Amino acid sequence: MRKKLVAGNWKMHGSRAMARELVDAIVKDMPEGVDVLVCPPAVYIGELAARHAGTALGVGAQDCSEHAGQGAYTGDVSAQMLADVGATWVIVGHSERRQLHGEPDDMVGRKFAAALATGLTPIVCVGETREEHEAGRAHEVIERQLGAVLAINGIEAFHKGLIAYEPIWAIGTGLTASPDKAQKIHSFIRSQLAKEDANIARLTRVLYGGSVKPANAAELFAQPDVDGGLIGGAALAASDFLAICAAAR
Ligand code: PGA
Repeated sequence: MRKKLVAGNWKMHGSRAMARELVDAIVKDMPEGVDVLVCPPAVYIGELAARHAGTALGVGAQDCSEHAGQGAYTGDVSAQMLADVGATWVIVGHSERRQLHGEPDDMVGRKFAAALATGLTPIVCVGETREEHEAGRAHEVIERQLGAVLAINGIEAFHKGLIAYEPIWAIGTGLTASPDKAQKIHSFIRSQLAKEDANIARLTRVLYGGSVKPANAAELFAQPDVDGGLIGGAALAASDFLAICAAAR
């Protein structure tokens, strides 16, 4: 059915030497039967992808431009450029991009499209803030975020693309959605896809992200609609990341 996936989102951390050392350690001991992906800062992607070409490790980016190819977009990196240096995956719509860079839902949808057009596999992040959570608005927010991706890309885009549910109140805070709460939201996300295509809904992987640690990973990944994790802080230590990968087996 749906193979579990564990992705490390390093955010803006590390150095060239640290990246090499960390990924060497991950590749050496990564378990079989789980898709393992690292998303380092963009400048390290080329070297890491080349170094581990031919292994099962996936290398992805944390973001891409909504614009295709080339152009006057200072600071942007296109999906084509990421693919050119060996990335095969890309995260779009991470809450830090949405909040710190003001990326609106439709831009996230266009980034998803840009990734697909280049052959990258996009992982779109959705999730509610603490205020929205407390106001009982999680479903409404997720429906809106997902709706923008669907409006631009259509349900067929999820033949390839993935979703990560990342409640913003759980990111980097040490607070994790309880396995039961995560399951309920993941099931809701799947039901949103199922409104358009039940088969695609059944096959689409929905990852959980937000303070996943070795101690809570197994319980989260045991939920029927949780297909793995998007890991921030714990992805920066090989032993923690590998323990989380092992929990997904
Ligand atoms: P965290 O980050 O695991 O440090 O909470 C997850 C993420 O932001 O992708």
